[in-house]
Amino acid sequence: MVDTKVDLAIARIDSYTVKRVSPTPPAKTGADASPTTTLSSQPASSWREGSTAALAKANSAPSSPRVTVPLRSTSRSRDTASFSLSLHHAISIAVLLLVLAFQLLAPRLPHELRQYFSSKPHWRVPSPEFTLRNPVLFHEPPTCPRPDQHVAFAGTFYTNTERSMNLAEQAKRVAAEFEFGPGNVRKAVKEFVREMDEGLQKEGTELSQIPTYVTAVPNGTEKGLYMAVDLGGTNFRVCSIQLHGNTTFSLTQSKVAIPHELMVAKTSKELFSFLAKQIENFLKAHHEDHYTATIKRRQTEGNIKEEEIFDLGFTFSFPVQQIGINKGVLMRWTKGFDIQETIGQDVCALLQKEIDELHLPVRVAALVNDTVGTLMARSYTSPGKTGTLLGAIFGTGTNGAYVEKLDKVSKLTQSKDAGDFDKSTGEMIVNTEWGSFDNSLRTLPNTPYDVELDAKSVNPGIQMFEKRVSGMFLGELLRIALVGLVKDPAIPLFKDENSSQNDVHSTTQIHEGSPIWKQWGIDTSFLSICAGDHSDGHRVIRQTLDKEYGISAVSAEDAEAVREIAFAVGRRAARLAAVAIGAIVLETGRLRSATASGTATTEDKEGVDPPRGTVDSSGRGEVAEEDVIDIGVDGSLVEFYPNFEEHIRQALREVEEIGEQGEKRIRIGIAKDGSGVGAALIALVAGRMTED
Ligand code: BGC
Repeated sequence: MVDTKVDLAIARIDSYTVKRVSPTPPAKTGADASPTTTLSSQPASSWREGSTAALAKANSAPSSPRVTVPLRSTSRSRDTASFSLSLHHAISIAVLLLVLAFQLLAPRLPHELRQYFSSKPHWRVPSPEFTLRNPVLFHEPPTCPRPDQHVAFAGTFYTNTERSMNLAEQAKRVAAEFEFGPGNVRKAVKEFVREMDEGLQKEGTELSQIPTYVTAVPNGTEKGLYMAVDLGGTNFRVCSIQLHGNTTFSLTQSKVAIPHELMVAKTSKELFSFLAKQIENFLKAHHEDHYTATIKRRQTEGNIKEEEIFDLGFTFSFPVQQIGINKGVLMRWTKGFDIQETIGQDVCALLQKEIDELHLPVRVAALVNDTVGTLMARSYTSPGKTGTLLGAIFGTGTNGAYVEKLDKVSKLTQSKDAGDFDKSTGEMIVNTEWGSFDNSLRTLPNTPYDVELDAKSVNPGIQMFEKRVSGMFLGELLRIALVGLVKDPAIPLFKDENSSQNDVHSTTQIHEGSPIWKQWGIDTSFLSICAGDHSDGHRVIRQTLDKEYGISAVSAEDAEAVREIAFAVGRRAARLAAVAIGAIVLETGRLRSATASGTATTEDKEGVDPPRGTVDSSGRGEVAEEDVIDIGVDGSLVEFYPNFEEHIRQALREVEEIGEQGEKRIRIGIAKDGSGVGAALIALVAGRMTED
């Protein structure tokens, strides 16, 4: 496991104050000392900061390096001198010719070869190192870089008007296909509400509406040390969480990428034994004393004490039919996982079996969807009187879990097979699994690009909402749209006939090995780059196309066309996200009444600092605290896609029943990595239930 040991001391995890302590590198002294730039980790504490700050950094032009040529003096005879002079000339001319030939041939060289030369650190413009979580974080190189020759903005445009018009029109046409107007939003909200009700009544519906057996949200006073693991997409996280009981907590975590072969393994054991091994590594690294003590006791006394066992919350972010707080069978895999044997099996039992084989002092106490964890974490930390209504993820996948009145969950309350749960609160958190909203496409948009993406996916016809909204798919939608334009000979995208036709005076080339030709070749983080690039001539977009996507000497017109389409794909995703949020706000009746319909554990509690009900961090001054409808969100899109929240809010205002007044009451706060804390909180509740 790449132990990223992020020690987080988090005072609050709402969007206003996130405090991370990143390890300070040891100070260098004496001859060893070198000027180092310490890059502190930059968690985006609000939706906007992450990408804008990084882009601002990227947009600042790098300065040229200084070259110092060493001088040498020699004493030679005249003959030798003249001979060496002519030899010197001959060599110089040969070198000059070679350089010239290389310069001429450079654009035609294979992409890998050009990449090789361009990756020499002393002159390479640093390429954005982005991942879904960290899409536009540019690292400063140790020396001043020389701007890339291909894509540096020349300052004056050569604009071929005919070409621009044609390309701009075509880009507008494609972007318009991604329009999802106010009428569409309203229709989709109605359909969402209908599917929510249907899903609460019976099984096998499009919105799964899974009862989670979690019947209360935390109030910030919970205490204790718990473990949580999180399997949800590309990474597996193991953490231990110390809840301080005053709405704050400390978290230690390790993260490891899931090898692709385990995502599509033949047997469940291959994946789950890997997960258990990571838990063992984590215990050895961060709770060594506890771990070795229990191993010793097991050897000497044959067993360990009940209080030595860690209760673990298992965040498993796939659709699971829950049968109890720590029991649930997998309904289907999503997000590229595909292990047929696991479907229909209890995933908690699978994990516990592997944990037991390693004799770890860990009990899987709760099974938690990441959205439920996000809801719990947000409710633990959020300011104000009202408990959180909804936890939502807009990351690799998308989904939401919300607090529902128990009597509306009739498929559970009227079922003979339902497991035990606490009925006293009159509420239960329901995991909507909204990724599969409107699989039958009654109201969802369906462009030719959506059709192609779905047809080539591992699960055609399923997760249709997710395929239009989440990070796993947006890059691919853009790629399909761009390839369509490139393949049309009449459309001049990335097609300069000669180098004088564009502003970079070099012929645009798409290398045949470019990721643009491969499924999933464009990362969704590229959409964030497009939406955030306000530099002259879209310099960042052009650099990224060159460095990451093998498309060199892209013109400003090309970059503008790409930006326009990428923006339309991203905005549509945000407007669809608003459909889900708006429908849940309406269906739960939160706009009709405020705190009265709040969650069961929202009363003020002694010992909570600051006391609940006294903090208004909504920034929306005119809304009384008790009228706030609190929503916790997490995921790469909400964290990094510029203005994702603004697009959501715009669409919410367009829904008549919400309008401007209603939209103002909705407070959306980030619950960064909340699923780990949330899982710990549920493990706490579950641990108490087993004690009773
Ligand atoms: C899964 C959900 C999960 C969401 C976000 C979806 O693909 O079906 O269970 O909550 O991704 O991670």
